Amino acid sequence: MPVVLGIESSCDETAVAMVGTDRRIIAQRIASQDEAHRPYGGVVPEIAARAHAERIAPMIAEVMEEAEMELADLSAIAATAGPGLIGGVMVGLVSAKALAMASDVPLIAVNHLEGHALSPRLVDEALEFPYLLLLVSGGHCQILRCEDVGQYRRLATTIDDAVGEAFDKTAKILGLGFPGGPAVEKLAREGDPKAVPLPRPLVGGKEPHFSFAGLKSAVLRAKEAQEKSVRGEPVEPRTQRDARPSTSSGRTDREGSRAYSDADIAASFQQAAVDCLVDRLERAIDSGGHAPALVVAGGVAANASVRAALEALAEQHDMRFVAPPPGLCTDNAAMIAWAGCERLGQNDPLDFKARPRWPLDPDAEPARGAGVKA
Ligand code: KG4
Ligand code: ZN
Repeated sequence: MPVVLGIESSCDETAVAMVGTDRRIIAQRIASQDEAHRPYGGVVPEIAARAHAERIAPMIAEVMEEAEMELADLSAIAATAGPGLIGGVMVGLVSAKALAMASDVPLIAVNHLEGHALSPRLVDEALEFPYLLLLVSGGHCQILRCEDVGQYRRLATTIDDAVGEAFDKTAKILGLGFPGGPAVEKLAREGDPKAVPLPRPLVGGKEPHFSFAGLKSAVLRAKEAQEKSVRGEPVEPRTQRDARPSTSSGRTDREGSRAYSDADIAASFQQAAVDCLVDRLERAIDSGGHAPALVVAGGVAANASVRAALEALAEQHDMRFVAPPPGLCTDNAAMIAWAGCERLGQNDPLDFKARPRWPLDPDAEPARGAGVKA
C-alpha cells in the first residue's frame, strides 16, 4: 500500500504524519507553539520559524520510527509549500526536499488550503466530488466548490478579516489569551447569545462574500461600554444602544453594569459569526453552489456551534454534512500527507519555490469592496 510522509509548518504548529492511501494515519506528531507566542498575543513569524527548525528533524525521526519504516519505503514526501508565513514554510519545504533528494523519493509540494479542502475525504471514504466547502481558518474564510483534486471554484471570500481572526480578536478583547478560538467557544457556553446586540455584516447581501471587521469592532465597543458601566461612568448613547438589549433605553449606566457579562459577549459574538456563516453559505447554495455534500474544514470548523448550525443548514438543503474531527480541522500534517496521497504521481521539482500567497482558485476575481487581506 502506498504511504506518504506529510510535513506542515506554515503557521504555529509543527506537524509530521504518515498516511496510507487506504486512509490510515500510521503515525503522527503535532507540536504546538502556543507557549512561545502567548506573551505576544499572536504568532510571531521569527519565533515560529525558529521553533519549526528546532523541532522538525526529531519529529520526522520519531514518526519514521513509530511507523517502523525507512525513507525508501515511502511513495512520496509531501510538504506544505504555502500559503503561510514564509520562514516556517521554508523550514518544512527544505526539510522535505533534503529527504527527497537523499532517498530518491518524489516530492509533492502541497497547498496548505488544499490540505484543509481534502481533509474531509481522509475521514469519509464516501465523500465524492463535487462538494461545497466552507473553509474557515485564521487566515482564510472562503466558500469553494470542489470539483476534483486540484480544481476549486471560489464562490466567496472575505472582504476584510477571516472568521478565525475575529475569534482571536474577541479572545484578546476579553483577555482570554492565545489561541483565541477554543477559549471563546468555552466561555460562550456560559453566556446568553442574545444578551448583546451585534451586527451581522453583509447578511442578506446579493453576493455570498463575508466581512468580519465590523463585528470585531462592535465586540470592542461592547466590552468598552461594559467596563465603563462597571466603573459607573456614563456610556455614550451610541455605544449604549449598540451594546444593550433593545428595551433598555430607560436604564441608568449603573444598571447597565449588570446588563451583560464577558460570557454574554462571547456567546453573542459566536452567534453573530455563526449567523454570518450560515447566511452567506445559504446565498452560495441558492446561487449555483448546491452539491450533494456540504463540507466544513479549517480551524474554526472545530467549533461545535459552527458545526451544529451547518449540519442543520445541510439538512434543510438536502445535502449530506461532512466535518473532520476537531483534531483534523486545526493545522495538522495528516491532511498534508493525505493531499499527497490524492496527488500521488504529480511530482514537483526539487527547486519548487515556497509561495507565501497561493490561491486555490487562481481565476477568482477579487471580491468587490475587498481590502488588502482578501
Ligand atoms: O486552520 P488553522 O489551525 O490555522 C490556519 O491555517 O489559520 O486555524 C486556526 C484558527 C484560529 O483563528 C483559531 O482561533 C480558530 O482557527 N479556531 C477556532 C476553534 N479552534 C480553532 N475558532 C473557533 N472555535 C474553535 N473551537
Ligand atoms: Zn490551516
